[in-house]
Amino acid sequence: MKSFVPVWLAIALALLSAAALKAQEDMRTVPNDAFVSPQRPPSVFVHDAHNEAAGIDECNQCHHVYRDGELVADESSEDQRCSDCHAEEAAGDGPPALMDAFHGNCKQCHLENGKGPVMCGECHQRQ
Ligand code: HEC
Ligand code: HEC
Ligand code: HEC
Ligand code: HEC
Repeated sequence: MKSFVPVWLAIALALLSAAALKAQEDMRTVPNDAFVSPQRPPSVFVHDAHNEAAGIDECNQCHHVYRDGELVADESSEDQRCSDCHAEEAAGDGPPALMDAFHGNCKQCHLENGKGPVMCGECHQRQ
């Protein structure tokens, strides 16, 4: 029996990583579970289709890494939640608060490009 364990382990790991890949493909909205009591419906965001339509090819345009206050060009943080680094309440001169991080990322780029929604209800749509 013992020799079969690695096979099952390999299958389990394969299933797990398939599930992880699916998560981003299947994302339709930005999860709002990191907010203690969300005021709005979660923002529309069809992850892969959005990034393709917007012509964004670098993951770290959103999943960024900073070191000593400097953006690191060739590293990305898609294995972390935004909320791992951005707290709901910002502390002092640390990273911006979570809501500001999302609005700063999403809305800012839409404004700069003159493309993509900038009105509250266009992103926070009641389903
Ligand atoms: C470009 C899309 C976009 C626009 C426009 C936008 N938001 Fe958001 N907002 C987000 C995302 C993404 C989050 C992160 C959580 C989520 O999905 O709701 C967020 C989070 C929030 C939160 C914190 C979570 C909660 O539900 O309490 C509030 C409050 C909020 N937005 C209010 C607003 C208001 C008010 C406006 C208009 C002045 C606005 N947003 C416009 C994308 C957007
Ligand atoms: C326009 C911004 C943006 C770009 C570009 C982007 N992502 Fe994301 N991605 C997000 C947001 C927002 C989330 C949700 C983060 C959170 O919940 O904290 C996310 C979540 C994820 C997740 C977690 C999925 C889950 O359900 O747990 C993975 C994996 C991921 N992205 C991979 C990538 C990869 C790989 C690329 C580049 C090919 C990429 N992302 C490019 C915004 C982006
Ligand atoms: C590994 C930690 C980390 C993760 C994960 C992270 N950030 Fe940040 N982010 C930072 C730090 C640190 C700063 C402050 C940089 C500085 O010193 O100016 C920052 C700054 C920002 C800023 C303001 C400056 C800028 O680049 O526009 C925005 C907006 C932002 N983050 C959005 C996001 C979003 C959205 C996500 C998730 C998709 C995310 N961040 C994930 C660490 C992180
Ligand atoms: C680097 C630039 C950039 C960033 C960052 C970005 N967007 Fe966009 N977004 C665009 C562009 C460009 C379009 C218009 C694409 C097109 O022409 O169809 C767009 C379109 C959209 C649309 C309407 C089309 C659709 O896919 O439903 C939504 C909703 C949207 N963005 C939400 C978001 C949210 C939420 C975030 C933050 C998590 C975000 N965007 C971050 C550039 C960006």
